[in-house]
Amino acid sequence: MRASGVLRLLALVFAVVTTCMFIRSYISFSVKTIRLPRWLRPATKEIRPVRSKCGLSKPCPGNFFAFKISSGAANVVGPSMCFENQVIMSPVKNNVGRGLNIALVNGTTGAMLKHSYFDMYSGDPNKLVKFLKEITEDTLVLVASYDDPGTKMNDEAKNLFSNLGSTYAKQIGFRDSWVFLGAKDIKNKSPFEQFLKNDPKTNKYDGWPELLELEGCLPRRIP
Ligand SMILES: *[C@@H]1O[C@H](CO)[C@@H](O)[C@H](O)[C@H]1NC(C)=O
Repeated sequence: MRASGVLRLLALVFAVVTTCMFIRSYISFSVKTIRLPRWLRPATKEIRPVRSKCGLSKPCPGNFFAFKISSGAANVVGPSMCFENQVIMSPVKNNVGRGLNIALVNGTTGAMLKHSYFDMYSGDPNKLVKFLKEITEDTLVLVASYDDPGTKMNDEAKNLFSNLGSTYAKQIGFRDSWVFLGAKDIKNKSPFEQFLKNDPKTNKYDGWPELLELEGCLPRRIP
Protein backbone atom coordinates (compact mmCIF):
# COMPACT_ATOMS: atom_id res chain seq x y z
CA MET A 1 0.00 0.00 0.00
CA ARG A 2 2.71 2.38 1.03
CA ALA A 3 4.96 1.43 -1.91
CA SER A 4 2.19 2.03 -4.40
CA GLY A 5 1.50 5.41 -2.80
CA VAL A 6 5.12 6.38 -3.35
CA LEU A 7 4.92 5.14 -6.93
CA ARG A 8 1.81 7.19 -7.53
CA LEU A 9 3.48 10.26 -6.16
CA LEU A 10 6.53 9.64 -8.35
CA ALA A 11 4.28 9.18 -11.37
CA LEU A 12 2.55 12.44 -10.60
CA VAL A 13 5.83 14.31 -10.20
CA PHE A 14 7.08 12.81 -13.46
CA ALA A 15 3.90 13.83 -15.25
CA VAL A 16 4.10 17.40 -13.94
CA VAL A 17 7.78 17.76 -14.83
CA THR A 18 7.41 16.37 -18.34
CA THR A 19 4.33 18.51 -18.94
CA CYS A 20 6.27 21.58 -17.90
CA MET A 21 9.18 20.63 -20.14
CA PHE A 22 6.83 19.96 -23.00
CA ILE A 23 5.07 23.27 -22.56
CA ARG A 24 8.38 25.10 -22.38
CA SER A 25 9.81 23.48 -25.46
CA TYR A 26 6.52 23.95 -27.24
CA ILE A 27 6.47 27.63 -26.38
CA SER A 28 10.03 28.21 -27.51
CA PHE A 29 9.29 26.17 -30.61
CA SER A 30 6.21 28.21 -31.41
CA VAL A 31 8.06 31.46 -30.73
CA LYS A 32 10.71 30.37 -33.19
CA THR A 33 8.20 29.46 -35.85
CA ILE A 34 6.43 32.82 -35.75
CA ARG A 35 9.63 34.82 -36.02
CA LEU A 36 9.43 36.38 -39.44
CA PRO A 37 12.14 38.17 -41.35
CA ARG A 38 12.29 41.82 -40.39
CA TRP A 39 10.81 43.03 -43.67
CA LEU A 40 7.78 40.72 -43.26
CA ARG A 41 7.05 41.63 -39.69
CA PRO A 42 4.16 43.98 -39.07
CA ALA A 43 5.28 47.39 -37.93
CA THR A 44 5.06 47.39 -34.15
CA LYS A 45 4.11 50.57 -32.45
CA GLU A 46 6.57 51.90 -29.87
CA ILE A 47 4.65 51.55 -26.63
CA ARG A 48 7.46 52.60 -24.31
CA PRO A 49 6.51 56.06 -23.01
CA VAL A 50 9.12 58.61 -24.02
CA ARG A 51 10.43 60.31 -20.90
CA SER A 52 11.59 63.82 -21.65
CA LYS A 53 14.96 65.08 -20.42
CA CYS A 54 15.11 65.66 -16.65
CA GLY A 55 11.55 64.33 -16.44
CA LEU A 56 10.00 67.56 -17.71
CA SER A 57 6.29 67.40 -18.43
CA LYS A 58 6.94 68.61 -21.99
CA PRO A 59 10.16 68.04 -23.96
CA CYS A 60 12.21 71.11 -24.87
CA PRO A 61 12.58 72.24 -28.51
CA GLY A 62 15.81 71.39 -30.31
CA ASN A 63 17.87 74.46 -29.52
CA PHE A 64 17.01 74.48 -25.82
CA PHE A 65 18.54 72.94 -22.73
CA ALA A 66 16.20 71.12 -20.33
CA PHE A 67 16.76 71.71 -16.64
CA LYS A 68 15.16 70.99 -13.28
CA ILE A 69 16.26 72.33 -9.91
CA SER A 70 14.79 71.29 -6.53
CA SER A 71 15.72 72.97 -3.29
CA GLY A 72 16.31 70.96 -0.15
CA ALA A 73 13.36 69.96 2.02
CA ALA A 74 13.82 71.48 5.48
CA ASN A 75 17.14 70.17 6.82
CA VAL A 76 16.25 66.59 5.89
CA VAL A 77 16.47 65.98 2.13
CA GLY A 78 19.19 67.60 0.06
CA PRO A 79 18.57 69.53 -3.17
CA SER A 80 19.03 68.21 -6.68
CA MET A 81 19.83 69.64 -10.10
CA CYS A 82 19.39 68.09 -13.51
CA PHE A 83 20.69 69.66 -16.72
CA GLU A 84 20.13 68.10 -20.16
CA ASN A 85 19.16 64.82 -18.47
CA GLN A 86 22.36 64.72 -16.38
CA VAL A 87 21.91 64.82 -12.64
CA ILE A 88 24.74 67.16 -11.69
CA MET A 89 24.09 67.55 -7.97
CA SER A 90 21.93 65.35 -5.70
CA PRO A 91 21.89 63.49 -2.38
CA VAL A 92 22.42 60.24 -4.30
CA LYS A 93 25.55 61.68 -5.92
CA ASN A 94 26.55 62.74 -2.43
CA ASN A 95 27.74 66.15 -3.64
CA VAL A 96 25.23 68.50 -1.96
CA GLY A 97 25.36 70.22 1.39
CA ARG A 98 23.53 72.59 3.67
CA GLY A 99 23.61 76.21 2.59
CA LEU A 100 23.83 77.20 -1.07
CA ASN A 101 24.43 74.58 -3.75
CA ILE A 102 25.75 76.02 -6.99
CA ALA A 103 26.56 74.42 -10.34
CA LEU A 104 28.16 76.15 -13.34
CA VAL A 105 27.39 75.01 -16.87
CA ASN A 106 28.81 76.14 -20.21
CA GLY A 107 26.02 78.16 -21.87
CA THR A 108 27.04 77.14 -25.38
CA THR A 109 27.72 73.44 -25.00
CA GLY A 110 25.75 72.63 -21.85
CA ALA A 111 28.82 70.93 -20.35
CA MET A 112 29.17 70.87 -16.57
CA LEU A 113 32.03 73.11 -15.47
CA LYS A 114 32.08 73.16 -11.69
CA HIS A 115 29.88 72.63 -8.66
CA SER A 116 30.15 73.38 -4.99
CA TYR A 117 28.17 74.10 -1.85
CA PHE A 118 28.64 76.81 0.71
CA ASP A 119 27.70 76.65 4.36
CA MET A 120 25.79 79.90 4.89
CA TYR A 121 25.07 79.34 8.57
CA SER A 122 28.54 79.02 9.99
CA GLY A 123 30.83 79.09 6.93
CA ASP A 124 32.99 81.89 5.55
CA PRO A 125 30.90 83.99 3.11
CA ASN A 126 34.06 85.10 1.30
CA LYS A 127 34.40 81.60 -0.15
CA LEU A 128 31.06 82.14 -1.89
CA VAL A 129 32.06 85.64 -3.03
CA LYS A 130 35.31 84.27 -4.50
CA PHE A 131 33.44 81.47 -6.31
CA LEU A 132 30.91 83.94 -7.79
CA LYS A 133 33.61 86.41 -8.87
CA GLU A 134 35.42 83.72 -10.84
CA ILE A 135 32.40 83.00 -13.03
CA THR A 136 33.28 83.84 -16.64
CA GLU A 137 31.25 84.89 -19.69
CA ASP A 138 28.91 82.35 -21.26
CA THR A 139 28.28 80.53 -17.98
CA LEU A 140 24.95 79.38 -16.59
CA VAL A 141 24.58 79.37 -12.83
CA LEU A 142 22.20 76.96 -11.11
CA VAL A 143 21.43 77.57 -7.45
CA ALA A 144 19.48 75.56 -4.86
CA SER A 145 19.09 76.27 -1.16
CA TYR A 146 19.23 73.64 1.56
CA ASP A 147 18.35 74.32 5.20
CA ASP A 148 19.82 77.82 5.61
CA PRO A 149 21.06 79.80 2.59
CA GLY A 150 20.92 83.23 4.22
CA THR A 151 22.47 83.81 7.62
CA LYS A 152 25.97 84.55 6.33
CA MET A 153 24.95 86.02 2.99
CA ASN A 154 26.66 89.40 2.67
CA ASP A 155 25.95 92.39 0.43
CA GLU A 156 28.75 91.54 -1.96
CA ALA A 157 27.31 88.06 -2.59
CA LYS A 158 23.80 89.52 -2.93
CA ASN A 159 25.05 91.98 -5.57
CA LEU A 160 26.87 89.25 -7.46
CA PHE A 161 23.67 87.15 -7.55
CA SER A 162 21.68 90.20 -8.67
CA ASN A 163 24.15 90.67 -11.53
CA LEU A 164 23.45 87.07 -12.54
CA GLY A 165 19.78 88.05 -12.91
CA SER A 166 18.37 87.28 -9.48
CA THR A 167 15.40 89.27 -8.19
CA TYR A 168 15.27 87.79 -4.69
CA ALA A 169 18.93 87.49 -3.70
CA LYS A 170 18.71 90.80 -1.88
CA GLN A 171 16.02 89.45 0.47
CA ILE A 172 17.58 86.10 1.30
CA GLY A 173 17.73 85.30 4.98
CA PHE A 174 17.71 82.52 7.54
CA ARG A 175 16.12 79.29 6.27
CA ASP A 176 14.43 80.75 3.17
CA SER A 177 13.83 78.44 0.20
CA TRP A 178 15.42 79.56 -3.06
CA VAL A 179 15.96 78.08 -6.53
CA PHE A 180 17.48 80.09 -9.33
CA LEU A 181 19.03 79.81 -12.76
CA GLY A 182 20.97 82.82 -13.96
CA ALA A 183 23.80 83.70 -16.29
CA LYS A 184 26.86 85.88 -16.27
CA ASP A 185 26.07 89.39 -17.55
CA ILE A 186 22.42 88.68 -18.20
CA LYS A 187 20.72 91.89 -19.40
CA ASN A 188 17.35 91.43 -17.69
CA LYS A 189 16.19 89.59 -14.61
CA SER A 190 16.14 85.82 -15.04
CA PRO A 191 12.64 84.36 -15.46
CA PHE A 192 13.87 81.21 -13.72
CA GLU A 193 13.66 81.88 -10.02
CA GLN A 194 11.48 80.98 -7.04
CA PHE A 195 11.69 82.18 -3.52
CA LEU A 196 9.83 81.48 -0.28
CA LYS A 197 10.44 83.35 2.95
CA ASN A 198 10.80 81.43 6.16
CA ASP A 199 7.66 82.48 7.99
CA PRO A 200 6.25 80.53 10.97
CA LYS A 201 2.73 81.52 9.86
CA THR A 202 3.02 79.94 6.41
CA ASN A 203 5.84 77.40 6.75
CA LYS A 204 4.99 73.96 5.48
CA TYR A 205 7.51 72.21 7.71
CA ASP A 206 8.19 72.92 11.33
CA GLY A 207 10.70 75.75 10.96
CA TRP A 208 11.15 75.76 7.16
CA PRO A 209 9.07 76.83 4.17
CA GLU A 210 8.13 74.34 1.50
CA LEU A 211 10.75 73.04 -0.91
CA LEU A 212 10.75 74.68 -4.33
CA GLU A 213 11.05 73.21 -7.80
CA LEU A 214 12.04 75.02 -10.94
CA GLU A 215 12.05 73.47 -14.38
CA GLY A 216 12.10 74.72 -17.90
CA CYS A 217 13.78 75.08 -21.26
CA LEU A 218 16.63 77.47 -21.75
CA PRO A 219 17.72 78.66 -25.20
CA ARG A 220 21.21 77.55 -26.14
CA ARG A 221 23.62 80.40 -26.61
CA ILE A 222 24.56 80.60 -30.25
CA PRO A 223 28.23 81.58 -30.37
C1 LIG B 1 32.14 76.80 -23.56
O1 LIG B 1 32.48 75.92 -24.60
C2 LIG B 1 33.00 76.57 -25.76
C3 LIG B 1 33.17 75.51 -26.82
O2 LIG B 1 33.93 74.43 -26.35
C4 LIG B 1 34.31 77.27 -25.39
O3 LIG B 1 34.81 77.94 -26.51
C5 LIG B 1 34.02 78.26 -24.27
O4 LIG B 1 35.23 78.86 -23.84
C6 LIG B 1 33.37 77.59 -23.10
N1 LIG B 1 32.97 78.58 -22.13
C7 LIG B 1 33.09 78.39 -20.84
C8 LIG B 1 32.61 79.49 -19.95
O5 LIG B 1 33.52 77.36 -20.37
